[in-house]
Amino acid sequence: MVARDWKNAPTDPAAAAAVAANGLEYRVIDTADAVVFDPYLQAETRGFLSGELSDEQLAGARDGFGFRRFVGIYDPAALDASQPVGTVNSWVTEMGLPGGRGVPMWAISGVSVAPTHRRKGIARAMLEGELRTASELGLSLAGLTVSEATIYGRFGFSPATFGTDWSIETKRAIWTGPRPEGRLDFVDREGLRDLLADVHGRVRATRPGEIEAWPGLWRRMSGTAPGQENARKVRGVRYADATGATRGVAVYVLSDEGRDFTKHELELHYLVSETPDAYAALWRFILEHDLVSVVKAPLRSADEPLRWMIADQRGATVETSEHGWLRILDVPAVLTARTYAAAGAFVLRVTDPLGFADGSWRLEIDDTGNAIATLSDAPPDITLSVNALSSVLLGGVRASTLAAAGLVQAPPAGLASFDASFATTETPYLSLWY
Ligand SMILES: CC(C)(COP(=O)(O)OP(=O)(O)OC[C@H]1O[C@@H](n2cnc3c(N)ncnc32)[C@H](O)[C@@H]1OP(=O)(O)O)[C@@H](O)C(=O)NCCC(=O)NCCS
Repeated sequence: MVARDWKNAPTDPAAAAAVAANGLEYRVIDTADAVVFDPYLQAETRGFLSGELSDEQLAGARDGFGFRRFVGIYDPAALDASQPVGTVNSWVTEMGLPGGRGVPMWAISGVSVAPTHRRKGIARAMLEGELRTASELGLSLAGLTVSEATIYGRFGFSPATFGTDWSIETKRAIWTGPRPEGRLDFVDREGLRDLLADVHGRVRATRPGEIEAWPGLWRRMSGTAPGQENARKVRGVRYADATGATRGVAVYVLSDEGRDFTKHELELHYLVSETPDAYAALWRFILEHDLVSVVKAPLRSADEPLRWMIADQRGATVETSEHGWLRILDVPAVLTARTYAAAGAFVLRVTDPLGFADGSWRLEIDDTGNAIATLSDAPPDITLSVNALSSVLLGGVRASTLAAAGLVQAPPAGLASFDASFATTETPYLSLWY
């Protein structure tokens, strides 16, 4: 457990010293003080290339995100010194691991540096400061999702879950999956917000790669965030089983192609289901929607059953991208938090330029799939970076694949048993951006 109050964890002294050398100040923000928080939110929004927030949107953002720990880098010489030139926010969430267990994780978000102050080491100071803060708090894992895949490897992060973006020609794909007997109902936006939270809350607890959601996320997803643009276009449908219990929810937006009324595009913003019936019924509803010729479905799992529920797999174009990036901070804590598919014993030599995970560890997995991990001075069976270990943690990336890419060193027999132990039946999936 995380022993200390993470929301008010103090500034990291080394990061503060690094930015002070350039005349900048590193501060943890009081999110209850709108005079400080509002300019912060405006700077972060500008950093991500969006327009200025309205008063209503600011109030919504204060309410939706205020639970997190916000750090700002300030330039006292700036024309408007109330706006930070660097932003990052973090909070403790639970990351699902194989075996249906979770581990507390330091989620990092909102990393931005003002375009006037880039490439001077501000992001490096913030990221390293965040990782040291997390480690000080006793957290064994950090995670983030990224705007660019080139930024975070240098800090020890590496992809552990992948997402797929689907573009489906409805007239060609044709539903061939089951036709469950439960019912579908439209839900209003407030109801949608609450159902999303309920179903996701139940599903994520056992899904490797998923994290806890936060109320502001479901407000935005359901079109109920204050001042949200295009909120009225959001549609929501739920699937209820024979007992009337909601088992899945889909959220989508329709747009008109312009000339031909039969060629609407349906963008599936979210689909969460806790039973195969709910999954099939909601996807069938989406694919068989009249007057829709194309369905766009971003950020689906890397292993969607949908592929096997359509007549023509080439009616769907699927692009895969890395999505959930992890960074192990405490090797024995993380490796013993998950369960394994096969018994085994491995000495892992983990390299970590930032020091947190560096060392040799003996991982011993018993017949029940539970493990113990201890420091070891035996010769290593497997040598890998903290990045590679973070990628294989959830079972979605195989060490043998990374070895073929030159990122893991081990003899083939050792790799095969390592892969067998780390394998999971469920493909890890993170369904959210954070
Ligand atoms: C990405 C961003 C935060 C970097 O901030 P910065 O203060 O310029 O970064 P730093 O000067 O601390 O650079 C740290 C290192 O990252 C590298 N780097 C920075 N931005 C990079 C990018 N976009 N792609 C690849 N490398 C990048 C630097 O070259 C430097 O490398 P090194 O220290 O290993 O030599 C900033 O460009 C930004 O705000 N971008 C827009 C918002 C965004 O995309 N944020 C990331 C959200 S996930």
